[in-house]
Amino acid sequence: MYSEKVMDHFEHPRNVGEIEGASGVGTVGNAKCGDIMRIYFDIDDDQIIRDVKFKTFGCGAAVATSSMATELVKGKSVQEALEVTNKAVMEALDGLPPVKVHCSLLAEEAIHAALWDYAQKNGIKIEGLEKPKSDIGEEEVEEEY
Ligand code: FES
Repeated sequence: MYSEKVMDHFEHPRNVGEIEGASGVGTVGNAKCGDIMRIYFDIDDDQIIRDVKFKTFGCGAAVATSSMATELVKGKSVQEALEVTNKAVMEALDGLPPVKVHCSLLAEEAIHAALWDYAQKNGIKIEGLEKPKSDIGEEEVEEEY
């Protein structure tokens, strides 16, 4: 039911952890299942994502999609990172079962929330980035991956 790539990223997730003093942090929740995702970015002065880490209190598909999403945005500009949609992540993973598609949205939304946080902190505008619906913030997350 899961592709080899999904299994690989689930069993060996890349970029798990957190970044002290991150340039941007985004935390989102999945309304369907209540799972939570947080993404940290280290972004340099040229707006290139130098490092990215994630933590999740989510299912295996959320782990795999976030792992792949962090690999796809690493080294990209903030503008390019916006183009890493859940569809692109699913394609990179050779697909997800239809009931798990909503899980892949967590990664995309967390990336957007972290970019928004970065833009807010630095007083810049990222073309095409909209205010995230549900950055649920630090205080509500107690569980760690
Ligand atoms: Fe919640 Fe997958 S079931 S993120």
